[in-house]
Amino acid sequence: MDEISEIEQMIDVVDLIGGYVGLKKSGRNYKGLCPFHSEKTPSFMVSQELQIFKCFGCGESGDIFSFLQKIEGITFPQALEQLAEKAGVVLQNVQIDKDSSQKKIIYEINHLATSFYQYILLKHPAGKKATEYVKEKRGLKLDTIREFKIGYAPDSWDLLYKFLKKRKYSDQDLIMSGVVVPRKSGDGCIDKFRGRVMFPFVDLDGKVVGFSGRTIFDRDTKYLNTAETLVFHKSRYLFGLDKARVNLKKEGAVFVEGQMDVISAYQAGIKNIIASSGTSLTNDQLNIVSRYTKDVTFCFDSDVAGITAIARAIELADRMDFNVRVAMIPSDYKDIDELIKKEGKDAKSMLNNSVPVYDFFLVKALKSYDRRDPIGKKKIVEELVPIFSKISSDVILSHYVETLAKEAQVSEDLIMSLVKKKANINDFSEFRGNKAEGTEKSFSKTSIESYFLAMIFKADVDTAENFLYKLAREDFSETSTQEVFTELKRYIKEKGAFDIAGFIDTIKSDLEVPVRELYMWDIGTLTEDPKKFGTELGSAVSRIKKASAKRKITELTERLKLAEVEKNVKEIKELTEELKKYSSKLI
Ligand code: UTP
Ligand code: MN
Repeated sequence: MDEISEIEQMIDVVDLIGGYVGLKKSGRNYKGLCPFHSEKTPSFMVSQELQIFKCFGCGESGDIFSFLQKIEGITFPQALEQLAEKAGVVLQNVQIDKDSSQKKIIYEINHLATSFYQYILLKHPAGKKATEYVKEKRGLKLDTIREFKIGYAPDSWDLLYKFLKKRKYSDQDLIMSGVVVPRKSGDGCIDKFRGRVMFPFVDLDGKVVGFSGRTIFDRDTKYLNTAETLVFHKSRYLFGLDKARVNLKKEGAVFVEGQMDVISAYQAGIKNIIASSGTSLTNDQLNIVSRYTKDVTFCFDSDVAGITAIARAIELADRMDFNVRVAMIPSDYKDIDELIKKEGKDAKSMLNNSVPVYDFFLVKALKSYDRRDPIGKKKIVEELVPIFSKISSDVILSHYVETLAKEAQVSEDLIMSLVKKKANINDFSEFRGNKAEGTEKSFSKTSIESYFLAMIFKADVDTAENFLYKLAREDFSETSTQEVFTELKRYIKEKGAFDIAGFIDTIKSDLEVPVRELYMWDIGTLTEDPKKFGTELGSAVSRIKKASAKRKITELTERLKLAEVEKNVKEIKELTEELKKYSSKLI
């Protein structure tokens, strides 16, 4: 048995998580308040049988290792080490050591490269133009340059490469760190960054994990960033967090778009500012911020592109229960960096004038259309309903519905019903749960087909078999539910019993995640009252059948239209008969 399995045998997921979260038994699983997002009703589930956890609110899921990683903010090797110690397992696996010794080399190379770039910028004649650029054009002070370890990669093919080779690093190590790339023809490497002002990516321990380089010659790509390496993962990295984090608890976080925005703002005394580097904001990045604060302000330019660019980030943050505010950069300026350079003190007042995200959308819609005109009214409502339908708190929702009703002179009930209708559609079409990243297949939280299967997983084997046989594969509209249905029926028929771990062993791997999720879907105390449970299962079956009949009718109607065009009397007759049969099922 390998060390990981040994640890898994010794440490129970319910015990481990129970040390952090109050867990209560709920059916076969355990339930508690999610430690990864704030919530008032528990949607965090732990399964002893499967040794995993899953939050139906924020989408976090995993095993003992990933739980410890996430809750303690540590790496996998660190989590492994801690759990091994707890389990009394001695780790001998060299794999981890090898990995961390490779990482050590990357840190060393990055550190040397940083010093090299800094030296060129501040001390070497080759850095003259860059110094001018940074100081005069970008307005950075020497203190700021030092604090952010800013440097310059000279406009030559291989100065850095030669410098590092003298220090006896192999080409392979240098390539692995991302500062050089292999020559296209011939041996050796060339520098990846040339003629660029270098912004090191510093992690929370102060180590350099990668770089972003801005061209000073206005040629090719404006910013070039380190690609993924063993120590740099762009979807989890936040520029400026190393400096901002001590201020985040008190002041909340301000998100901007670029590194230069962070640096300028920092220099102007705004020290709670961070940026993702060259990607749109991810779930992982927001999770990291949520360890420090739940208050975030998005700062963006007033044009339409700026708004759509971060609309997704806002939605993500709102769903993760952040208090989201929006600060708008006056339209004369491209970004906060420009604003600061031209109007020093205005940046702070812009941030002080930030508004809650929904006010922002409300004001924007009311400004865009004439609310006294019926068509204007319709446009305002149409623009805001989809946005309001994403609000998860009822109190906040009713506040905005009230305000909109008053401002646009439309009935509150009407707006509320439109919002609720849209919210329902959102839930049904939300096939991927809350995870924005990742490739996991997942089920719609409120689809009746998923709900039926979630109940079947909790039922005793006779009940399960009884209800499964009331339906056919074609009654399910989604491929994933069709597959789970067929597999379940097969398994129960073969074994005459049900055991979730055994079941998962027999299904194909891309069904595993959705099956675990269905299994952990909390149906409360429903199973304790067999009569009620039976009724609920029965009504799910009839809803699924009705939906299936409706689909069939649509299909038959289409075919009938065709047959009528072709004047195919025989087919018309057959199709009409069939249509009658299915229509009767709807009553
Ligand atoms: P912007 O194009 O808005 O640049 O890109 P900026 O930050 O205002 O840069 P300056 O002021 O012209 O120097 C915003 C961010 O998108 C990423 C960088 O992280 C940048 O800070 N980006 C941009 C890239 O990764 N590559 C690019 O080619 C351009
Ligand atoms: Mn800029």
